[in-house]
Amino acid sequence: MSKLSTTSTFQHRLESQMNHWRNEGLMREISWFGMCENQDGDPVLRYEGKDLIDFSSNDYLGFNRSPEIQLASREGMEEFGNGAKASRLICGSTFPFQELEARLAQWKGTESALFFSTGYQMNVSILPALTESGDIILMDRLVHASLVDGARLSAARTHTFRHNDPGHLVSRIESAVRFLPEGRHIFVVTEGLFSMDGDYGILREIAELKRRFPLVVVVDEAHSSGIMGPSGRGMAHELGVSESMDVLLGTGGKAMGVCGGFICGSSVMIRWLQQKARGWMFSTAPPPGVVAGLTTSLALMRSSLGQERREKLWQNVRLLSQLLNKAPDTASPIIPIVVGDESATMKARQELSDAGFWVGAVRYPAVPKNQARLRITLSAIHSEKSISRLAHIINKMDCMRISKAE
Ligand SMILES: Cc1ncc(COP(=O)(O)O)c(C=O)c1O
Repeated sequence: MSKLSTTSTFQHRLESQMNHWRNEGLMREISWFGMCENQDGDPVLRYEGKDLIDFSSNDYLGFNRSPEIQLASREGMEEFGNGAKASRLICGSTFPFQELEARLAQWKGTESALFFSTGYQMNVSILPALTESGDIILMDRLVHASLVDGARLSAARTHTFRHNDPGHLVSRIESAVRFLPEGRHIFVVTEGLFSMDGDYGILREIAELKRRFPLVVVVDEAHSSGIMGPSGRGMAHELGVSESMDVLLGTGGKAMGVCGGFICGSSVMIRWLQQKARGWMFSTAPPPGVVAGLTTSLALMRSSLGQERREKLWQNVRLLSQLLNKAPDTASPIIPIVVGDESATMKARQELSDAGFWVGAVRYPAVPKNQARLRITLSAIHSEKSISRLAHIINKMDCMRISKAE
């Protein structure tokens, strides 16, 4: 077969699969944005010549445009260069990393911490690094794709348990214990605040189970870090169960307003990851300026400004929950409105965009098929005026007459 015909059959294969996705309402398109703020301080996206108030980002504390973080990043960049030049174990471990990791560990109350370029890169690396053949991973069915991918790459056997169902988790643990080879471990993996459903993980129940069974507990606090618990330490601290969590994960790209992922835990585990976490070892370290910016973001989060922002965020959560005719049962800054049908979800998003708002539209594979949803996220910098207007428009939409998440 000639080179040209192979190329064209390959292109054809891609096109026909994408046509199928198009018909199913599952095709993704990039939207290109400019960015600014309106006169009320709301975050605004400039899209196709229109200003849309952004209710889709994970910038919960409004730190994305913080001048203090920008200044620290600029200074870090001037001193340490535009990029890290190499991976962490070659010469990429400059002082900003040392400072950030020490402060992250102190904040989370753990012995040590390790910073990754992204949360995805971290999650896809840590389960393969921490587990070995014969170990068993028990994952909440709704954990983030990055943890699922990490489990797939690991040598451990993986089972899911029904979302936030302690009874089902216990039955999974009991059968895992029966089959567990000598010297192997059971890893329980969940989240502090679930990214697509906006409900909280069963950390208290898992901490209780850890007293009965030999578990290694991994909790992803990507969305709960910064917004829950004292100084924004996260859900495990809010519930007073952080001592029972062996692995605390967080991200720098959400409440911290920058980027990256971090893992906090024992010094032994962090030393181990420095030998085994491939996404950390075999990748150029993130830019030191970004890391310096994150250290300032962390300081802001722990300051009175951080506290004020958290209070304002929760005030906004309460306001939107009160105003929506059909608010989710759990109050959190992530508000899913399950429409079901994928195309109908995209249409509902368009309706909101026509009205001047940009919200997330989440479809398979980010959520199960036929559970497509609008994902509204709140920030401390949203004004009451924009929240009231958004609620008013949503309440009039057809999709609000369709059921919400089971
Ligand atoms: C729960 C959870 N973990 C990890 C990640 C990945 O983090 P990052 O966006 O930094 O790659 C996300 C991203 O949305 C997430 O929601």
